[in-house]
Amino acid sequence: MDTRAARQTSPVAAPPVDDEGRPVPLHDEAAFEAMARAGELAARTLDFVTPHVQPGVATIELDRLIDGFMRDHGAVPATLGYRGYPASSCISINHVVNHGIPNERRLREGDIANIDVTVILDGWYGDTSRMYLIGDKIPIRARKLVDVTYDAMMAGIAQVAPGRTLGDVGHAIQSLAEAARFSVVRDFVGHGVGRRFHDAPQVHHVGRPGEGLVLQPGMIFTIEPMINAGRHEVKILADGWTTVTRDRSLSAQFEHTVGVTQDGVRILTPSPAGYTRPPYG
Ligand code: MF3
Ligand code: CO
Ligand code: CO
Repeated sequence: MDTRAARQTSPVAAPPVDDEGRPVPLHDEAAFEAMARAGELAARTLDFVTPHVQPGVATIELDRLIDGFMRDHGAVPATLGYRGYPASSCISINHVVNHGIPNERRLREGDIANIDVTVILDGWYGDTSRMYLIGDKIPIRARKLVDVTYDAMMAGIAQVAPGRTLGDVGHAIQSLAEAARFSVVRDFVGHGVGRRFHDAPQVHHVGRPGEGLVLQPGMIFTIEPMINAGRHEVKILADGWTTVTRDRSLSAQFEHTVGVTQDGVRILTPSPAGYTRPPYG
């Protein structure tokens, strides 16, 4: 070791990097307010479409409603044209894990479905998703999967505070899901979000306490666990987007965009209507 006087270190702390070595942006107060506006519009979009999510509606019809609502409110859908993605939302039914492309398929009594929307408002991205129960004859196991997935997301969010780690977040989600004998999808992660759709850090939904990125005020990212009723493995269909469970078991997901504050966490995508988990209203 070097026994000479300590070398002068920079008075500015090294910028945080995620597990891939990418710099993690720190956002100022103005950015938080802009993200809160984008997040609120994304959440309002889900609130708005909720009464239309009924047996018999085609998912492409819901996508048209979502697209119109965003544009009527001065935003554009972030997903449309993103890496060639062809729609303004993702709608993922039953064993579809994520990135379901809206189409002529009609929702049926007993389905569970995730609707994931991302707006770009004034250059800022707001990203959120919720589960829907279609009709009122939902199998008990499907309902339990949806409840556990919501609870897992909220348990992850509850870990977010300065000094805590992304490992704490992943561990909380994984513990809750696995205690219910469900499994956590490994192949997709939450992500930093701001003026970019998918930024650092990667947010794994499994982890070990104390490991990973140490959270600092100003970080903004999504927490969006995908939980399967069966095994965690997934595969992507030939359309290049639609992800399904390999064992065809049901899958559920919720997503919030959150920011690390001086003393904890701020959810940037709360529902103005007060919707949390289904049934809504
Ligand atoms: N909104 C999704 C997420 O949570 C991303 C969808 S990208 C798309 O990150 F291209 F599939 F729409
Ligand atoms: Co996301
Ligand atoms: Co999303």
